[in-house]
Amino acid sequence: MSKILITGGLGFIGHHVAIKLSQKGHKIAVLDNLSRPNTFFSNSSKSNEENYNWKYIDEFYPQIEKKFIDIRDKEEVKILIQNFKPEIIIHAAGQTSAVDSIENPRFDFKNNVIGLFNVLNSAKESQIVTDFLYISTNKVYGNNVSKIPLIEGKTRYFPEEKKFTGFSETLSIDHSIHTPYGVSKLTGDLYVQEFGQIYGMKNTVFRLSCIYGDQQFGIHGQGFISYMFLNAISGKPIQIYGNGKQVRDILYIDDLSNLIERYLSSTSSLNPKIFNQKSRVYNIGGGINNTISLLELVGKFESILGKKIEMEFSNWRLGDQKLYISDITKIYSEIGWKPNINPEQGIERLSKWIESNKHLFLNRKQEEKKFT
Ligand SMILES: NC(=O)c1ccc[n+]([C@@H]2O[C@H](COP(=O)([O-])OP(=O)(O)OC[C@H]3O[C@@H](n4cnc5c(N)ncnc54)[C@H](O)[C@@H]3O)[C@@H](O)[C@H]2O)c1
Repeated sequence: MSKILITGGLGFIGHHVAIKLSQKGHKIAVLDNLSRPNTFFSNSSKSNEENYNWKYIDEFYPQIEKKFIDIRDKEEVKILIQNFKPEIIIHAAGQTSAVDSIENPRFDFKNNVIGLFNVLNSAKESQIVTDFLYISTNKVYGNNVSKIPLIEGKTRYFPEEKKFTGFSETLSIDHSIHTPYGVSKLTGDLYVQEFGQIYGMKNTVFRLSCIYGDQQFGIHGQGFISYMFLNAISGKPIQIYGNGKQVRDILYIDDLSNLIERYLSSTSSLNPKIFNQKSRVYNIGGGINNTISLLELVGKFESILGKKIEMEFSNWRLGDQKLYISDITKIYSEIGWKPNINPEQGIERLSKWIESNKHLFLNRKQEEKKFT
C-alpha cells in the first residue's frame, strides 16, 4: 500500500485514476481547485458540493481524501505534501485547452508551469516523495507530427509510409508550432525529467494522445468525443475545423487507469531495469490499432443515434494536427501493457453514459469560471 497524491484529482483523468488506485488498496488524496468549467450543476452557488466529481467521490469513495487547493499557491501545496506525506505524486492538474491558451497564455503559464513547479519542487524538498508521474501530452511535439507525407482518403488521412507504427518518443520537439499550451506542458515535461536526472527522483512522463470515456465533461477545445456527442444528442450541428479527415489514436479512460496502476506497481523498486534507465518518457494512447477520424466519429454517432448529424466546417486552427498516432511499443515492451477497449466499444460506452446522464448537462454552468 502506498500513499498517493493526485493533483487535478477531481478532473476527468485524475478522479478515474484515484478510484482505480483506491480500489487497489492505496491511500489516496486528491487535490483540485475545481476550476474546470461545466462540472458544476447548479447556477445558485459555487459550493464544492455542486461539483459532480466532488459529490461522486464523496458518495461512493469516501475513503479518498479531497483537498480544495490551488497549485499556484506554493505554501498550500507544500503544507499538504508535508501533512499527507505521499510516496507517489501523479500530476494531472492544469489548464487543458490549447484554444484557451492562445486566448490567455499567462493564465496557461501560471497553471501549467508555475503550478507544476510548485508541486514538483515541494515533492523534491519533502524527501518523502519517491515517484513523480507527470501527465503530459502529444502537443509537446507540436506540428512536427504534420511533417510526414500523408495521403488523403475519402474519410481520413493515411501516412504514406505503409509500415508507420505511430510517432515515438524520439520525435523532435524543436522547430515546431506548439500553441502556448503545448509549450507550457513541454516546460513541465522537461522540468520533471530534469529533476529526475539531477535530484535522483524516480520521475516518469506519460505523453497522452486523446483520452475519452464516461464522466468526461467535454467542452469546446477539450474532450472532443464527449463534446461532439453531447452536441449530436442535443440536435446541434457539430463544428469541424478543417475537413474532418484528421486522425487520432484514442484511448478509453479505463485502459489508462489500468496502465497507471500497473506501471506504478511494476516500477517502484520492483523493476530496477526500468528505474535504472535515464529517460522514462512514454507516448501513451490507443496506438495504431485504435484510430479514428472526425468524419468516421460522426458516422459512428449517426449509427448509434439512428439519425443524420449536421456538420459545420470552418478553417483549420493554429497547431491543428492532421494525423497523430502514438507509437506505444516502448510501454508495451517494458511492462506488457496495451489497450483492451477498441473505439467501437469505447464510443458505445461513452454514448450510453451521456444518454443516461443527460439531465446533468441541462443545467450546468457554462464558461463563467474560465481564467480565474
Ligand atoms: N484528456 C485528454 O485527452 C488529455 C490528453 C493529453 C493530456 N492531458 C493532460 O491530462 C491532464 C488531466 O486532463 P483531464 O482531461 O483530466 O482534464 P480536466 O480538466 O478534467 O482535469 C484537470 C483538473 O485540474 C484542475 N485544475 C486546473 N487548474 C488547477 C489549479 N491551478 N490548481 C488545482 N487544480 C487545478 C481542474 O479543476 C480539473 O479538475 C491535464 O494536464 C491535460 O493536459 C489530457
